[in-house]
Amino acid sequence: MYHARVEQSERIKAVQSPVIPIVAEWIRERPGTISLGQGVVNYGPPKSAMDAIAEFAADPENHKYKPVHGIPPLLEAIQKKLHDENQIRISDTHRIVVTAGGNMGFVNAILAVASVGDEVILLSPYYFNHEMAVSVAGCKSVVIPTDERFRPNVDTVARAISRRTRAVVTISPNNPTGAVYPEPLLREINDLCRDSGIYHIHDEAYEHFVWDGAKHYSPASDNAAWAHTISLFSLSKSYGFASWRIGYMVIPEPLFEAVRKIQDTILICPPVISQFAAVGALSEGSAYCWAKINELAEVRSLVADELKEIARFCTVAPAAGAFYFFMKVHTHLDSMTMVQRLIREHRVAVMPGSTFGMEQGCYLRIAYAALSKETVKEGIGRFVSGIKKIVSAA
Ligand SMILES: Cc1ncc(COP(=O)(O)O)c(C=O)c1O
Repeated sequence: MYHARVEQSERIKAVQSPVIPIVAEWIRERPGTISLGQGVVNYGPPKSAMDAIAEFAADPENHKYKPVHGIPPLLEAIQKKLHDENQIRISDTHRIVVTAGGNMGFVNAILAVASVGDEVILLSPYYFNHEMAVSVAGCKSVVIPTDERFRPNVDTVARAISRRTRAVVTISPNNPTGAVYPEPLLREINDLCRDSGIYHIHDEAYEHFVWDGAKHYSPASDNAAWAHTISLFSLSKSYGFASWRIGYMVIPEPLFEAVRKIQDTILICPPVISQFAAVGALSEGSAYCWAKINELAEVRSLVADELKEIARFCTVAPAAGAFYFFMKVHTHLDSMTMVQRLIREHRVAVMPGSTFGMEQGCYLRIAYAALSKETVKEGIGRFVSGIKKIVSAA
């Protein structure tokens, strides 16, 4: 008897399809659409990153494989940065692993700590690639709600922990909400994870993007947390490095062999040319990021002011971090329909909340860092008038 087996695995069939290509198709069909959907910055790496490429090219040895967990000068530069900026002291207890971006760090972490069928706690709204990675690994996402400021309640997280739970995932500053979790909250989650014998995976991709006096806190800076905290960092946003694919993990030393096996299998080593560029970028330091982020502050306040115009039509959560505003539109329309109509009728695109797991209610995410100030101004103007018209008529 012949059974066709030339098809996707059941595991992959269960993974949500990314919404970005669908929205991209709608944008293509409506030329002139301004996209406030993309979670990237409008600047590239510093010149020092480009200069380092010449150094890379000068040595033929650089065309060979390099260490799985990163080249020594980059590991050193990251160690210094973690010490100076994050108060994370790398000693015998921790290891740094350079990855091909923060997403890869997350996949490494899940594969290292969770077996097929295990549970991983995500907070809603979640970053869709986290939810997808958990499914790809054959694990189950247990998604728990956050409060009206999109912060988790620690008792709710505690109640979601079962015998199969291996990790709680937090993101601060947060994608998609822009929430910044205060230090005491992250410490409480650390303590809960330690007491429950599970990992705390903390994504700090937006570590430099904090506003209105909010402070970024790295949970791995707590010495008592070293054994169960996995921290994920990225150069994609802060240094305009999205296409270069460089991130890094700080992991407890006992996980190092596991992560090395995974990364060796999938990647062998992060692209060495990009690692050279990262050494160059880190030598410039966070002053580079702050200068860019100060420029972005103007765009942010422009968007915030415009959104006040539609306070009757939607509730915008306080967003002291990242470069997003996440809002609930007061309408019975679902978020995909709303996004499609905004594109078709008003030539402006945003991301639907459903892609971040917010299926009940019409949630939208606005990203304001990818375009010039003038274009964002035009785009947010279209958004505001679009929301007014669509919600009033619905
Ligand atoms: C929370 C979060 N983590 C990780 C990433 C991916 O970063 P990278 O480009 O380093 O893989 C993103 C990108 O949007 C993100 O929002």
